[in-house]
Parts: sequence; C-alpha cells; structure tokens
Amino acid sequence: MNIIIKNNAFEINEYAASMVAAYVHNNPQRVLVFPTGNTPLGLYKNLNGLVARKELSFSSSYLLELDEYLGIAAHDQRNLFQWLKRSFIDQVDFPEDHLYRFQADAADIDTETRRIEQVIKKHNGIGLLVLGIGPNGHLGFNEPGSPFDSRTRVIDLTRASLESSANYWGDISVVPTQGLTLGMQTLSEAQQTIMIVTGKHKADILYQMIKGEVTPDLPASFLRTMKNVTILADKDAVSML
Ligand code: PGA
Repeated sequence: MNIIIKNNAFEINEYAASMVAAYVHNNPQRVLVFPTGNTPLGLYKNLNGLVARKELSFSSSYLLELDEYLGIAAHDQRNLFQWLKRSFIDQVDFPEDHLYRFQADAADIDTETRRIEQVIKKHNGIGLLVLGIGPNGHLGFNEPGSPFDSRTRVIDLTRASLESSANYWGDISVVPTQGLTLGMQTLSEAQQTIMIVTGKHKADILYQMIKGEVTPDLPASFLRTMKNVTILADKDAVSML
C-alpha cells in the first residue's frame, strides 16, 4: 500500500485526477468504479475539466456505481447514481450503454446483486476502483462486520452511516436504512485502487486503518492486504499518523 501526502484537498484532487487519467489512458476499455459522498466532488470537477479540454475521454470506458440505497427509485433525489450523474457523468463522455447502476427498486434483489457480479465478470473484473472512507471505516456500504469474502449484496446501514448520510439529505429520517454494495471480495479483485482521504475529521479513522489491526470491524483495513492500492491523503488527514 502506497501513501501519497499532499498539502491540501485541492492538491489531492488534482493528483487523483491525474492518476485516473493515466489509468484510463493505459486501460481505456476497463470498468471504473466511482463513489459518491463529499470527498470525490473535487476529483470529479478536475475530471470534468480534463474532458472539457479534450485531455481525457471516457468514450471507451465503463462506469459502475460502488453502492446505492436499497429501494430508492432511479428518479429519486436520494438515488446515488443520480448524485454521480449530477456531479460527474453528465459532464463527461461515457456512452450511455457503458453505464452500470444498481436497480435499487428491483422486485428480486438477489437477482439484481447477481446481475451486478455478472457485469463485473463479463468485463474481466473491476479495472480502477476509487474509494472514500466512511467515518466508521466502511468501504462503499460494507459496514463494520462485513466479511472479507463478501460479494455484492444488501446490507443494513449502521447508525454512524445514517448520521453521516443525514448531512447529504438534511435529516436522518429521510436516509434509507439499507443499502446495496459491491462486496469486500468483489472490491479486492480490482486491478488498481485509489482511496482519497481529506480533512481533519478523517484523521482518526485513517490512523486506525493504517496502524490498527486488519479486521472486518474496520472494513477499510482490508486495503492493507490488497494489491496496487494508493491512499491519497492531505496533511490534515494524516495529522494523527
Ligand atoms: P464523505 O463520505 O466523502 O462524504 O466523507 C465518505 C463515505 O461515507 O464513504
């Protein structure tokens, strides 16, 4: 696991965008997994700029969402794919039929999670995986306790995740209580992984992830066992290391 430290989030976002661009340049036809949350918004701004200036194109790439709220329809404001569309997808040039989203309101959710695994298999696995880290160390919606051999599935969201999601939607009462997520094992098979960690509020969880035990109680610690992982962190985020 490689850790790259920059002065601030601005520098991290530029650097993360250059890493994504380099990956896409060398592997134009792979599946790219992107997260939601506040952390990647600066990365998306940079990627949108690179595409607008014709310095990068996703025209041969595929996009798969990392996680989604269970039962939330595609047009719902809280649908996480909509979040990705607003902040990123609508500004860049993925072909429409290269976009893979969870059908979060599918009648048969087990068939839906198997379909997502089949998509990944059809494309020879995840190429590039971009991650943030949750306040409780969750990866996607793999909450503490997620087995390292888990695959794509439904999961109950923890109180900590509901509280942090309440920041996005105004009130905890409107945060869906279950999610769909690519599994730990599924994520571990990515060819390359970039995790972005910025801000003082992430310093404690980053410290635990790097210095603590590798344990399902802290899903992000699993990154220490994976190949080709880069943590991009700003000075605030490494302030406890
Ligand atoms: P954040 O969320 O980027 O809004 O901090 C990260 C996460 O919960 O995975």
